[in-house]
Amino acid sequence: MKPAVGIREVARRAGVSNATVSNVLNRPEVVAPATRLRVLAAISELGFVRNESARQLRAGRSRVIAYVVLDAANPFFTDVARSVEDTARAAGLAVYLCNSASDAGREREYLELLHEQRVEGILITPVDAEAERFAELLSRGTPVVLVDRESQDGTRCSVAVDDVLGGELAMTHLIETGHTRIAMVGGPLSIQQVRDRHEGALRALAQAGLPPDALTLLETKGLRVAEGRSAGERLVGLPSARRPTAAFCANDLLALGLLQSMTQQGLAVPEDLAVVGYDDIEFAAAAAVPLTSVRQPREQLGRTAAQLLLEEAEGDPDHVHRHVKFQPELVVRASTTVSRGRRPRS
Ligand code: RIB
Repeated sequence: MKPAVGIREVARRAGVSNATVSNVLNRPEVVAPATRLRVLAAISELGFVRNESARQLRAGRSRVIAYVVLDAANPFFTDVARSVEDTARAAGLAVYLCNSASDAGREREYLELLHEQRVEGILITPVDAEAERFAELLSRGTPVVLVDRESQDGTRCSVAVDDVLGGELAMTHLIETGHTRIAMVGGPLSIQQVRDRHEGALRALAQAGLPPDALTLLETKGLRVAEGRSAGERLVGLPSARRPTAAFCANDLLALGLLQSMTQQGLAVPEDLAVVGYDDIEFAAAAAVPLTSVRQPREQLGRTAAQLLLEEAEGDPDHVHRHVKFQPELVVRASTTVSRGRRPRS
């Protein structure tokens, strides 16, 4: 009996990559018409028949990818996830959304489970610097792409925003609006993105000729609203001579918690404390005092991460691991602009 004709034989006959043949079968719209015709001719000459159950059996993969997020309650991640789902769906795949809740043990459990489920690939915003758990997955053939992180060793694709620039934009804005005693609210510094934002803030201080102690770092255990509220109580508790007149928060949830704390303590934003967030989630503009924030292009992050993963999962021989870095953008709103004729209280 003649051996079954596979994608590899069709690719060879048509003079294209396996991924191109896969695209002709799954996403013909992304293939140039002339190439598509060549592949279809090869399919008919060789008598190739696509067998979905055989494909799944051979590849042992379900038509599903997964996205493991740090905090499913953070709109940053659900905005990115929506874009991931749109991209996966266009390729005929579904998405499992898993919440590590910033817990390394829970993250590992999900990675084991997803491997057993034989998902096509995993997008992940990791709890901490990459550990051997990704290497293990890769050795077993599961593609992994980092989201909102940069791969430290180049052994996988990653997408992120230039967070050093993001920290610099936020801090420069506060300095240019007259602040010389500024807090950075946010940690833990074990998260690469937070460290980068902090590095950018220090860079802006240096460029403005301000000493490093012009920045008071209030590290927090997590990146949620509750930690923003408690940071507000710590800030107000500082002696007035040392109390910052502005705060740069590592993400919008911290900033919204800080705004709430200021209001509860009878303090005005921005007059008593100017506040800048990071992500520019929908609630930033909708806040009681619309929040100045550093926008992360969440739709592009999600789409690009999913495309890189699908390219790798389809075994494109031309695939090369790469890091895609997007630029952040400062969006100025009422939480840092004192109305004309009034100055921040110092
Ligand atoms: O990934 C760490 C943080 O970066 C998240 O909290 C998210 O808000 C993004 O800004």
